[in-house]
Amino acid sequence: MAGGGLAVASAGGQQFEAKITPIVVISCIMAATGGLMFGYDVGVSGGVTSMPDFLKKFFPVVYRKSNETGIESNYCQYDNQGLQLFTSSLYLAGLIATFAASYTTRRLGRKLTMLIAGFFFIVGVVLNTAAEDLAMLIIGRILLGCGVGFANQAVPLFLSEIAPTRIRGGLNILFQLNVTIGILFASLVNYRTAKIEAGWGWRLSLGLAGIPAGLLTVGAIFVLDTPNSLIERGHIEEGKAVLRRIRGTDNIEPEFQELLEASRIAKEVKHPFRNLMMRKNRPQLVIAVAMQVFQQFTGINAIMFYAPVLFKTVGFGDDASLYSAVIIGAVNVVSTLVSIYTVDKIGRRILLLEAGVQMFLSQVIIAIVLGLKVKDHSEDLGHGYSIFVVIMVCTFVSSFAWSWGPLGWLIPSETFPLETRSAGQSVTVCTNFLFTFVIGQAFLSMLCQFKYGIFLFFSGWVLIMSIFTLFLIPETKNIPIEEMTERVWKQHWYWKRYMDDDHHDAEAGVWNKVRPADGNGSDPASQL
Ligand code: BGC
Repeated sequence: MAGGGLAVASAGGQQFEAKITPIVVISCIMAATGGLMFGYDVGVSGGVTSMPDFLKKFFPVVYRKSNETGIESNYCQYDNQGLQLFTSSLYLAGLIATFAASYTTRRLGRKLTMLIAGFFFIVGVVLNTAAEDLAMLIIGRILLGCGVGFANQAVPLFLSEIAPTRIRGGLNILFQLNVTIGILFASLVNYRTAKIEAGWGWRLSLGLAGIPAGLLTVGAIFVLDTPNSLIERGHIEEGKAVLRRIRGTDNIEPEFQELLEASRIAKEVKHPFRNLMMRKNRPQLVIAVAMQVFQQFTGINAIMFYAPVLFKTVGFGDDASLYSAVIIGAVNVVSTLVSIYTVDKIGRRILLLEAGVQMFLSQVIIAIVLGLKVKDHSEDLGHGYSIFVVIMVCTFVSSFAWSWGPLGWLIPSETFPLETRSAGQSVTVCTNFLFTFVIGQAFLSMLCQFKYGIFLFFSGWVLIMSIFTLFLIPETKNIPIEEMTERVWKQHWYWKRYMDDDHHDAEAGVWNKVRPADGNGSDPASQL
C-alpha cells in the first residue's frame, strides 16, 4: 500500500488505486442517514408503547392491564397483538416494499431509490404525528415501513460499491452506526417526551422522526450514483467520470474494466431472481438468508423494541425503564464504533465468533437472574439485581453491535456478484424484515409464555449461529467486491463445490453449467 491514502497492489492480490476522497466520505455520510431513519423507527416504538397516554388513547385494554396488580402474571402485562402490530407492521410493509425497491435499485439506480425512501418516510411521519385513531397510526407505520424497505435496499449497496476495497467494511458499517444513533436518539427523545404531562409527548416522539427523514431526502438529492450502477444502466462515460472523481486518481482503468465486465455479465441476466436461485449463487444466498434469520434470533430486537416494557415487566419504574433504554442505546453506538475500527483489520469472522461467546453467556446469566428473582406476581427485582440485569443486557448488546448487527448487512452486500446483487440484497432485506416482524409480533406473547426462559431460547440460537459461522462463513476482509467468486468461494472448503465453471448461453438467455471433467456430468435440474 502506498502512502498518502493511496492503495495499490496488495500482497493478497489485486487492490485498485484509490484515495479516500472527501467526496466518498461525504457521500457515505449522506447515504448512511437512511440508517438513522431505520434506527429511529426501531427505537421509538418501545418507549412510546410504554407511555400511559399513548396506551390510554390507542390501547386502553393494555393500559388497564398494566395498571392492575396481582391479577395477571407480570410477564403478561403487555401481551397484546394490536400493540405488537404497532411495532411490527412497519417490517411487514418493508418486506413487501423491498421487491419494488429491488427493481428501482437496478433500473433507476441507488440514488433515486434513496430519494423514494425519503418521500415515504416524510408522509409516514406526518400521519403518525397527527394520528387520531389506530388506523392512522398503523397506516403511518406502514408508510415508514415502505421507506425502510427502499432505504435498506439501496443504502448498503451504495456504500459497498462506492467505498475503496480496503475500507469497505468500515464505510458500510456507517449504515449500522446510524441505525444505532437513530435508536439512541429515539430513546433519548422518549425519555424526555414521557415527562410531558399534557399527554402529547408520544406525538413529539413520533414527529421527530421527521429529522432523519429530512436528512435522508436532502442527502439523496446531493449524492452521486455509484459507478457500478451507472455503468450497469448504460451510462458508461458518466460512470467512468464518477469513478475517477471518487477514487481521486486518473489510474482507474483496471477497476473500470472490472466494472464493465461485471456489468456485461449482469446485463445478460434477464431474470435476476431466477438467477439468484442458481447453484453457483447458493453460497451467497444461503449465507445472506441465514445471517438475517440468525441476526434476529439473537433476540436483539426483543431488547431494542421492548427494553422499556421489559424493564417495567421486571419491576422498574417508568423513569428507570426509559433511562435504562438510553444507556443500552449508548452502549450500542459505542460498540458499533469498535466494529468500524476492527472489521477491516481483524476481519469479520473473529468478530462474529467472539460475539457468539459473549452473547451466549450474557443471555444465560439474564435468564438465571430473572428465573430466580422475578416471580409472577412479585413487585420488583430489587435495586442490586436490576443494575446487574442492565449490565448483562449491555454486554449482550455490545457484542451484537460489533458483530451480527453490522455484519448481518455488510457480508451479504459485499458477497453477491453484480448480476445478482440487487436481487440478493432484496432477499436479504426481506428475510431480515420477515424475522424482525416475527420477533416484533411475538416477543411479548413469548415473554408471557416462556417467562425468563425466553433468554435461554435466544441463547440456543446464538450457539447454532456460532457453529454456522465457524464452518460456513468465509472471511471477506480486503477482497475486492467483484473478485469474491475467485478468491473466496472457489477457495472455501465447502462452498467451492458450488463454483463449477459456468458459461452463459446468451441466445437462450439461460445459464448452462459445465462441470469439470470429474465424471459427474451436467444436471440442468440442479441449477435451480
Ligand atoms: C438490525 C436491527 C436492530 C439493530 C440494532 C440492526 O442491524 O437489523 O433489527 O434493531 O441492528 O442495533
